[in-house]
Amino acid sequence: MFASQEKVVFVGTIVSSSALDRLNILKGFIAIENGKIIKIGSIEELSTNFSKELLDFEKVILNENQLLIPGFVDCHTHAPQFPNIGLGLDRPLLEWLDKYTFPLESKYDDVNFAKSIYRQVVQRLINSGTTTACYFGSLHLEGTLALVDSAIEHGQRALVGKVSMNIKNDAGYYNDTAKELNDVECFVQKVLEHKNDLVHPVVTPRFAVSCDAALMTGLSDIANRYGCRIQSHISENREEIKHVLNINPGCTSYSEVYDKSHILNNKCIMAHAVYLREEEMCVLLSRGVSVAHCPASNTRLRSGLCPVRALIEAGLTVGLGTDVSGGDSSSILDAMRRAMDVSTHLEMLDTTSVTRAALNWREVFYLATLGGAKALRLDDKIGNFEVGKDFDAQVIDVFANGGQIDSYEYTMEGNEHYRVLQLLQRFIYLGDDRNITQVYIKGRKVKG
Ligand code: GUN
Ligand code: FE
Repeated sequence: MFASQEKVVFVGTIVSSSALDRLNILKGFIAIENGKIIKIGSIEELSTNFSKELLDFEKVILNENQLLIPGFVDCHTHAPQFPNIGLGLDRPLLEWLDKYTFPLESKYDDVNFAKSIYRQVVQRLINSGTTTACYFGSLHLEGTLALVDSAIEHGQRALVGKVSMNIKNDAGYYNDTAKELNDVECFVQKVLEHKNDLVHPVVTPRFAVSCDAALMTGLSDIANRYGCRIQSHISENREEIKHVLNINPGCTSYSEVYDKSHILNNKCIMAHAVYLREEEMCVLLSRGVSVAHCPASNTRLRSGLCPVRALIEAGLTVGLGTDVSGGDSSSILDAMRRAMDVSTHLEMLDTTSVTRAALNWREVFYLATLGGAKALRLDDKIGNFEVGKDFDAQVIDVFANGGQIDSYEYTMEGNEHYRVLQLLQRFIYLGDDRNITQVYIKGRKVKG
């Protein structure tokens, strides 16, 4: 393991996206100093550089079946729900929350319990190549600070929110408004006190079923005063939408409920957006809101088929979320496949509409990396490989021992460029943690 201050140059096949439809393949090198990318070049440029300024750099030479790709970005997951992963997926959203989720999350008032779970959660995500995660914590101030500590200890890039709720539920899992606003401000201050450039606080009204306008307006004020991001859920489930409109009779749409509480802005990340009307997409777009698409959760909780192509075509910035434990996998590779599947199912339902075209493997690779970075407003730092950005990356060993991908005495026709495309394609469709042999966050090796 080397520290982030050291100078390292990676040499081999480097793949990243610069747009939804633009995959860049480079046979060359990336030089890193103090965790930042300082130089990128081709194999041809390498020989001259090695003899000059890169001479004292540690060299990491990748073999022909390895790929260097950006770290994955999970735009939406619930750290306290990991003990329920793969459990209790037999009820729709609102019942699922009351029966399984709120009772589990209530346990995080025990800080030691929180610490032990969050240690495992962050390690699990790093093993799966998630270098950046946008987390919902629980209602608890100290418990959620334990999640912040875990991210810092593991060196993960993390946006972390203490969940806010002030509307009663059967589990008694909510705060009164004054305490909640006080706890959130305290949480934000304590996270900022770490002065850790990888970890930032997020103001987190759970959703409009759990938060009234007074709370959300107060939260919006805190977010503005401290320059924080905001995250929540929107239009995930039909019953949820009906309920939100019932308790907000002055509003004609879910988006309007948030807009009236000043929740929607260009630092806001909304999960789901399965049932947004076209006018609502326009409101979100005009406010600069981004969307975390969570296809596994939308299927497992039978919430619906999110028209992700329509969201993208409307101009919204979209990233992927695993949404554990509504989602049954914490892996962004899984989210990529589920996004292809859900969009393919929509395409099969309506083959005439261009807004329904399925996402392909190149597009979900973009959403998992640069798309996610843009959605979290971190694309000035991460998402792909550019000089000046931080080095958040994974080494993919496509034919890793014990992995799912076998090498056959057969290759499809094509030159070296096609061979590389096929390596990446097979990793996206078949790969898992075993193929992710090294992970780096801001130049620091955190796996491998
Ligand atoms: N809406 C409000 N809270 C939650 C949650 O914990 N998971 C999901 N999937 N949706 C929510
Ligand atoms: Fe969620």
